Amino acid sequence: MGRYEDLIEMAMEARRIAYAPYSKFKVGAALLASNGVIYKGCNVENSSYPATNCAERTAIFSAVAEGQKEFEAIAIVGGHEDAAELDFCAPCGVCRQVMREFCNPETFEIILARNEDEYEVFTLEEMLPFSFGPENLI
Ligand code: THU
Repeated sequence: MGRYEDLIEMAMEARRIAYAPYSKFKVGAALLASNGVIYKGCNVENSSYPATNCAERTAIFSAVAEGQKEFEAIAIVGGHEDAAELDFCAPCGVCRQVMREFCNPETFEIILARNEDEYEVFTLEEMLPFSFGPENLI
C-alpha cells in the first residue's frame, strides 16, 4: 500500500460530490493537517462562473474554518465527469497562492493522482517558485 493511498482515496471520495454542472470537470482534494485530521474539498461551481470555488480552496477554507492552519500535504484528483480514467490535475495559480498562505513551501507536498497507484509528488516550492507570502508583509 502506497504512502499516500488513504489521502488519494479521500480525494476520490470528495470528487464524487463535486458540484460542476457547467464545466463537468470534477475535482476532489484531501488535505492532511498537522493534527492528523484530513479535510476534504470539491469544486463548487456557480451560474455566475467566477464565483466558482476550486476543490483545493474548499478543503483549505473548511480546515481554517475549523481552526486548523497547519498542513502537511494535499492530494488532488480531477477530470471530466465522463472520463474513463483520470489524467493528472494540477492546482490553479490561485489555489497555489492560497496554499502559500498556510503551508511551508519547502515541505508541503502536493500529490497529483490519477488513481491510488499512479501519482506525482511536488513541493509547493516546485509548483510556486519565487513566491510572495505572509513574511513579505512583516
Ligand atoms: N478546478 C479545481 O477545482 N481545481 C483545480 O485544480 C483545477 C480546476 C475546477 C474549477 C472549475 O470548477 C473546473 O475545475 C474547471 O475549471
